[in-house]
Amino acid sequence: MNEKLVVENLSKVFGTNEVLHGIGFTVREGEFLSVLGPSGCGKTTLLRMLIGLEQPTDGKIYKDGRDITNSAPFERGMGIVFQNYALFENMTVLGNVEYALRKNPAFKEKARETAEHLIEQVGLAEHKEKRPGKLSGGQQQRVAIARTLALNPDIILFDEPMSALDVDTRLSLRGELKNIQKKFGSTMIYITHDQEEAFAMSDRIMVLNEGKVQQLDTPRGIIDHPANDYVERFVIHNIQLKIDSLIQFARTKV
Ligand SMILES: Nc1ncnc2c1ncn2[C@@H]1O[C@H](COP(=O)(O)OP(=O)(O)O)[C@@H](O)[C@H]1O
Ligand SMILES: [Mg+2]
Repeated sequence: MNEKLVVENLSKVFGTNEVLHGIGFTVREGEFLSVLGPSGCGKTTLLRMLIGLEQPTDGKIYKDGRDITNSAPFERGMGIVFQNYALFENMTVLGNVEYALRKNPAFKEKARETAEHLIEQVGLAEHKEKRPGKLSGGQQQRVAIARTLALNPDIILFDEPMSALDVDTRLSLRGELKNIQKKFGSTMIYITHDQEEAFAMSDRIMVLNEGKVQQLDTPRGIIDHPANDYVERFVIHNIQLKIDSLIQFARTKV
């Protein structure tokens, strides 16, 4: 598989707070890579540097072999989906998805057509004339995903996109995201603090803690060969606890 994104020795210091220390990893073309770590470990900072909203203190980022460390966000061919949807409330669903397309000369001509198509792809055709506030959280997040897909990014970044959603919605959106990835062939980098989510969705998981990569491997590889005590205690142990409580729950049912 091709190397889509290569990150070398990436560091970020805010004042005296060194948030990320020499992070290095590679993302393959078409891969679904999760970045799994506790709150405050630097996940959002990493994502913001990848997309160009934050300048690294040190290190390099290459996409398709090209050094993009200092490129502007719009030159990077990446899209991002946030936890809080960030939709325009004064526009319809269709308007939200069309908006960025209309502003871009390369997409302007077919803005309506493309937006309609994407809204259909995420299963919201019947809601396209509604305002975002009239939709459920899961539907709003699907609008945000359609809007991100609109500019045809080859890498899509997700910053804890399911955090605000209830369990059922999370489960159905998981499946949908994987379908979208297959359909569009996008490379996805998915930030989460939820072990179960990372293990259910990812080709590979990068475990991040205290600003350092603890392990980068397939879910199977992590379970079979945890790299250190942190991975063992906070990743695998937590999953085991969830499984145990599910079994316990099932036993209480007749
Ligand atoms: N713009 C900023 N200025 C100063 N400190 C920041 C800034 N952004 C993030 N931080 C700090 O960096 C650390 C990591 O934050 P963040 O990347 O948001 O972690 P996560 O997304 O894993 O919860 C935190 O200690 C946070 O306070
Ligand atoms: Mg964050």
